[in-house]
Amino acid sequence: MFLRNCWYMVGWSTEFADDAIVPFTVMDEPLAIYRKTDGSLAALEDRCCHRLAPLSVGRKEGDELRCMYHGLKFAADGRCTEVPGQDRISPRVCVRAYPIVEKHGAAWVWMGEAEKADEALVPPIIGPENAEWAMQCSTFDMDVNAELISDNLLDLSHAPFVHEATFGASDPVALKMMKESETKRGVTQLERGVLADRWQLGRQSNPYFGARPCDDRVVSLFLVPGVFILTITSYEPGVLERSEGGDVTETPIFKRCTCQMITPISKNKSRFFFNFGPWAAAADLKQHCFGIADAAFQEDKRIIEAQQDMIHRSPGRKYVLLPMDQPVVRYNEIYSRLLADEQPVVEPA
Ligand code: FES
Ligand SMILES: [Fe+2]
Repeated sequence: MFLRNCWYMVGWSTEFADDAIVPFTVMDEPLAIYRKTDGSLAALEDRCCHRLAPLSVGRKEGDELRCMYHGLKFAADGRCTEVPGQDRISPRVCVRAYPIVEKHGAAWVWMGEAEKADEALVPPIIGPENAEWAMQCSTFDMDVNAELISDNLLDLSHAPFVHEATFGASDPVALKMMKESETKRGVTQLERGVLADRWQLGRQSNPYFGARPCDDRVVSLFLVPGVFILTITSYEPGVLERSEGGDVTETPIFKRCTCQMITPISKNKSRFFFNFGPWAAAADLKQHCFGIADAAFQEDKRIIEAQQDMIHRSPGRKYVLLPMDQPVVRYNEIYSRLLADEQPVVEPA
């Protein structure tokens, strides 16, 4: 079961050309997404109510979509505005319209009760338009249930093993953090997610700006329905002692950020949107940083898809949970509570 009363990312803004009707499936529900004449987005059920032809292979006419099977035309609110050769149109002739907004360089669809669609709940990702960062965006699909990707992102203890070659995470400090169960400190449970704010002191190297020791402040926010925002700020070693328990005001050596958004296409397929980049001060390293991250996320894909395959082959088999699974357990509690609060969605007749 997936949450419905939340915003699911359905694409980077650049994926929606003015003249396109873009098909996208969220939780097995087909959507047809397009831009209206004022440039804002609309999302209709991608299934004509007449004989179920997809509207995404139809035609955009102003702010409306025409089904190119028998010519029914639908407004952006889902009402049918024309049935060729017929004067009166029953209100039953309609398709579902979904709330959609564009924010932070991405498009977000609300899959639940339309009256609860609150733009303030769009996850505050750092998008490609943010002038403080040099972010590069990408997307790929994974043949897994979205939950397995959330689990992976919540549990950074996989990094020293899965990302041995890419993030340089096999250094002794990262391993020590894992052993101490990093989750015990600096973790705050939120209404719709988990915030972790921690230090990794005494990192010896990283792949982004060379073999220079540093102390890293690692801040990660994980929000429903599966949005991960991570910023890592590197300082000269000893920054905490120099700050004497107060706020750290020293200028960092380097900053990097990644946002990762998971959208369930179906029970066994998910789209993974991500971006990665250094702070604007090191914009010349944008491609270099992105290349490392892109390779790392392919490492995640390989292990998670293999895990999903094994799960399919092991019906009824339960996990053995360990202290390192704490963030996953906490997040799952939040997710289950929000799920229990939801009302079933009433489909159009
Ligand atoms: S299926 Fe769309 S008009 Fe007939
Ligand atoms: Fe990973």
